[in-house]
Amino acid sequence: MPKILLPKDFTFGVATSAYQIEGAWNEDGKGPSIWDTFTRTPGKVAGDVPGNRGVEHYQRYREDVALMRDLGIESYRFSLSWSRLMPEGAGRVNQAGVDFYSRLIDQLLEQGIAPNVTLYHWDLPQALEDRGGWVTRDVVGWFGDYAALVFDSYGDRVRRWATLNEPISIWVGYGMGAFAPGRSDEKAARQAMHNALLAHGRGVEAFRAAGSPGEIGIVLDIWQRHPATDKPEDKALAADDEDNGFRFFLDPLLGGGYSERLTQRLTAAGTMPEIEAGDLELIATPIDYLGLNVYSRVVVSAEHYNPKWWVADEWHPGGNFLDNGMEFYPKAVYDAIHMVKTDYGFDRPIFITENGVSDGKTLADPLEDDERIAYVGAFLEWIAKAIDEGADVRGYYLWSLLDNYEWAAAYTQKFGIVHVDLETMQRTPKKSALWYRDVIRSRGV
Ligand code: FCB
Repeated sequence: MPKILLPKDFTFGVATSAYQIEGAWNEDGKGPSIWDTFTRTPGKVAGDVPGNRGVEHYQRYREDVALMRDLGIESYRFSLSWSRLMPEGAGRVNQAGVDFYSRLIDQLLEQGIAPNVTLYHWDLPQALEDRGGWVTRDVVGWFGDYAALVFDSYGDRVRRWATLNEPISIWVGYGMGAFAPGRSDEKAARQAMHNALLAHGRGVEAFRAAGSPGEIGIVLDIWQRHPATDKPEDKALAADDEDNGFRFFLDPLLGGGYSERLTQRLTAAGTMPEIEAGDLELIATPIDYLGLNVYSRVVVSAEHYNPKWWVADEWHPGGNFLDNGMEFYPKAVYDAIHMVKTDYGFDRPIFITENGVSDGKTLADPLEDDERIAYVGAFLEWIAKAIDEGADVRGYYLWSLLDNYEWAAAYTQKFGIVHVDLETMQRTPKKSALWYRDVIRSRGV
């Protein structure tokens, strides 16, 4: 008997994204995305290894669905490649792409696995980037048309949708240059983030207009900042970092517009996005649920500022570091669930749409991933506690089903509960996969 039980109707899932697993980057009529371009540009990703092959999920999707069925996975969260469906991002539809996801969805349903579909997980069609990408307001219309195609094609079978996954990726791509499309222009990046929120609102409108049953939300990653000391400069830094991160999205999404604090700072820096009449209303179009991706927290110190905030360093002791360098802080998920309620009054359902960990640097046997088991188990315990105390958390998606292409880290970070041999592409469940199967069977940890 597990010590900690999750509610009977709680959903246990796994998550992936199109670019990270599909491969087939130029097959069957798919157009290139900004990640195809970026990873094929020298100097952008680890070892200059592009993501062309992903982990060949496009060819092996049946096997991957069967794997999920064998593990007892109840829901599969994945994303659609916009440029597989619309090679130029707008206009022409690629029927082979439409059919691919249709087969995947049918296969999932046949195996009793509920599809949970994200429209955008970072892979903007390159043709749209060439026309201004997220920086131009035209993207709102492009996204709306794409969303309409998606709901028209799959709205009869999919019951859970998300518009965007972690729109902060747009800051990393347009402001920091560390992700596709590799631009470093803060003003353009802020506008792009605003436009992404508008596109989200337009996507929700398109969903309501399509009239298909089901629910739609957005997925944000929550890395709460904890000041290293009580010093005002540490506290101010924590607040600014949160404003730059998840609050940039939550503030306008949940109805309040951009905060005074953020507006003042960006206006002073000349990087405040241009906001037109009606924008804030569109962004705040009501959603059905919120997806939260939670991996850890960040301890911030003004004296020792760490621009690579997701990897703890010696100046930011949280106490407990994982073998991959990230702080082990499972209470982060409990805090995030509370934060959306306390700070924003959010009282609709929450899904933890991603949580997971990459294999440690010293892992000897790639299948013996005990640290992942401890990590996921602890997060599930904190989720159970939040639910016991009244939070409306409906499900959990482990990141990730497969070892895959981890963006700028290429294949060097392995988040899968299933090992993938990159030579043969053979899939082998790790210890954590079998453990997760037992968690799902017994409904607890
Ligand atoms: C999340 C991303 C996902 C993957 C995991 C490790 O921020 O949404 O694609 O990179 O981190």
